[in-house]
Amino acid sequence: MTIAHISDLHFGRIADSGVVEALLDEINAADVDLVAVSGDLTQRARPAEYAAARTLLEALDPPTLVVAGNHDVYPWWRPVKRLRAPLERYKQFITDDLAPTFEADGVAAIGLTSAYGPSIKGGRIGPADRAAMREFFSEKGSDCFKVLVVHHQLHPTVIGPISPHPVAQQAQNTLAVAGEVGVDLVLCGHLHISAIQPLEIIPGTPRIVVASAGTATSNRWREPAGPINFYNVISIEPDAFSVKERRYIPDEGRFVRDGVTRFERVN
Ligand SMILES: [Fe+2]
Ligand SMILES: [Fe+2]
Repeated sequence: MTIAHISDLHFGRIADSGVVEALLDEINAADVDLVAVSGDLTQRARPAEYAAARTLLEALDPPTLVVAGNHDVYPWWRPVKRLRAPLERYKQFITDDLAPTFEADGVAAIGLTSAYGPSIKGGRIGPADRAAMREFFSEKGSDCFKVLVVHHQLHPTVIGPISPHPVAQQAQNTLAVAGEVGVDLVLCGHLHISAIQPLEIIPGTPRIVVASAGTATSNRWREPAGPINFYNVISIEPDAFSVKERRYIPDEGRFVRDGVTRFERVN
């Protein structure tokens, strides 16, 4: 089972004329079972940006599991819309399913929506989201590999220039539930930094690996990564899984392997 994890596409701020096509071509040419898209599909939630994001999603051959990011809510200069119907355009162009799920070949994934209106860039995971996660995963056996997809960070990622950074509201409660139901892997974005971390959320309980993807296609790079686009490929085997980081080379118009982190399965 192979998952391609792409994040922070930010249509409206695309970095390189070839990067979207290279991403699409590579995923469609590979043996990918699911594309997880962890939010910030647009820069300012404009219709043209959403239309471009939708065009990419429709051109991908594998099924997609998509969650919204903070840039996908109405911008601050539309305050009424932002508060009353923050994800109206997301629902119109992308999906009205704010807790999408996927299940095949011993892998189950759920996406939760952390983007909401009242915050400028923060996120929040509410009780209903946690209940949806608990209900979905509690039916799965312990040998099922469980993946949570969310835009915002649930735990601090320790990288010098961006530390400390805020986490989503109610992140600790959400991680506690994820630990209880045996989540193996969290796929997130938002920081525009590629980082793979095994976390012991609750001492003595199985660790959860958090894979934070860089921006796949935008020029909103962040130091220390610099002007680089990334996405991740997750390969899940019966006893282990690996996260392979793929880095875009503008001069060559293609992504190349940048690093591989391998973990034993523990849940
Ligand atoms: Fe972003
Ligand atoms: Fe974000």
